[in-house]
Amino acid sequence: MKKIGILTGGVDCPGLNSVIRAVVRKSLHEGYVVTGIKNGWNGLVENDMRVLDLRITSGILDRGGTILGTSLCHSPLETEKMAAIMENFKRGGMDALIAVGGENTLKVALDLYEQNGLPVVGVPKSIDNALSGTDYAFGFDTAVDVATACIDRLHTTAESHHRIIVIEVMGRHTGWIALEAGIAGGANIILVPEYPIDLQEVCESISSRHKRGKTFSIIVVSEGAKIKGQAARENDDEGPRKHADNIGKIIANLIEEKTGYETRVSVLGHIQRGGSPSAYDRILGTRFGVKAVDLIKESQFGKMVNLHNNKINCVDISEAVKKHKSINKDLFSIAQLFSA
Ligand code: F6P
Repeated sequence: MKKIGILTGGVDCPGLNSVIRAVVRKSLHEGYVVTGIKNGWNGLVENDMRVLDLRITSGILDRGGTILGTSLCHSPLETEKMAAIMENFKRGGMDALIAVGGENTLKVALDLYEQNGLPVVGVPKSIDNALSGTDYAFGFDTAVDVATACIDRLHTTAESHHRIIVIEVMGRHTGWIALEAGIAGGANIILVPEYPIDLQEVCESISSRHKRGKTFSIIVVSEGAKIKGQAARENDDEGPRKHADNIGKIIANLIEEKTGYETRVSVLGHIQRGGSPSAYDRILGTRFGVKAVDLIKESQFGKMVNLHNNKINCVDISEAVKKHKSINKDLFSIAQLFSA
């Protein structure tokens, strides 16, 4: 009989509850018990936890957010916090821990594994899809669906008013949401952090499109995109959006100024992260949760479950947090075919 702890850390995303539910189901099937740790790593620091059973985890598959709550923690954690985590993990009688989170949550997990021998398994969540070591993290598909639905809505109003609408989507350091939602929503121009924005080129392609008789344009810009030639902005970590310096608004103003076309901006923000997970994310979260318990059963610690070529497997957490996963360049080339 094992006792497994589970926590959800970092910013929330749709599908976290699918993982929690799957971990509990699979654990009970194996004869294990599960302790739910409240509010990410803070719950272990503060010893805030409760047993998770079928009753508590029933009816949560389609619920956004996380029933465990979350908090933002960055590596390196203070020594006292690391010690408190290890102390409360032992005091809670746990044999292993599942840390569900993004880059920062997993970096803390890696520190605890490497420096204190914490028997931990990671599960990747990210609406940004920026984690290396997995083709997709759960949460991303839902964010793309939501952003696509918003682009569709903005399309009709842009067309009716013969306007340019700049739609700013989330994504932090990478342009995955902008790229996939931009393609799905038929955007005329997609701007991502991986390729600095050439404003002259953007304005020219809008003007040539308008000369062809198209009197409206949809531009999707990722929040982390930068204008060519401008100094790099201060990078953020998980947490307060230091990086969010209104790139949508900035380029909308410049485009209107340079082209003379009436331009509006719409910042989708946290709408992309809230609400019910897509069917894909519910299934991915479920597959990840089950695999995480399998890894614990096999004592494979320091690993993160992953998806590669639609197969669930695992990689070292150290691999996953090494660098951000940039957008798929082939997909970006496809998007260029439809630009302007
Ligand atoms: O990493 C997910 C994400 O939603 C990013 O796309 C965004 O930049 C950031 O989190 C927002 O964080 P917060 O909720 O702290 O504003």
